[in-house]
Amino acid sequence: MTAFFDYNLMRKIEISTSATIFDSLAELSKDDQLLMQKAIEAKNTSYAPYSQFHVGAAVLLENDVIVLGSNQENAAYPSGMCAERVAVWKASSQYPNTSILKIAISASSKHTKVDKPVGPCGACRQTLLEYEVKQQQPFALLFMGETGAVVKTNSLVDLLPFSFDKSFL
Ligand code: THU
Repeated sequence: MTAFFDYNLMRKIEISTSATIFDSLAELSKDDQLLMQKAIEAKNTSYAPYSQFHVGAAVLLENDVIVLGSNQENAAYPSGMCAERVAVWKASSQYPNTSILKIAISASSKHTKVDKPVGPCGACRQTLLEYEVKQQQPFALLFMGETGAVVKTNSLVDLLPFSFDKSFL
């Protein structure tokens, strides 16, 4: 039987990623602060009676429109949806050919003080990547908790190594 792997070729690699960390909302540029304020505002429409974890997302499009989304839960738990996907699908269905420039995300909980940046879940990263590939232009992502530091990345590629996209199909 022929081995599938040629072990002589095995090697370890290191993948690095980059992000900018801001100590607080006040340290962001005025434009980024404004978008994050919209994400914070979007949390007000979150429907999260089960987790009491409220997430808001604001998508800035190249036509200057800002599309908001929030997490929407369901008694059948897996039928609920994250804020990021609600926002980006809403944006893509309303403005299918308009590029995304930036997305801001904010999260807070009724149970604890969320003082660390809350990154998008894996499924949201995959969904966001789809639009970055589609528009052939990276977009910035900003995320935070209720207070504290804000993380800014320049591309989904920074959040998703070894990702799957249409190039495999
Ligand atoms: N949630 C989001 O909206 N975005 C994420 O990236 C992580 C999780 C929501 C889903 C669910 O309504 C609640 O947070 C708790 O998981």
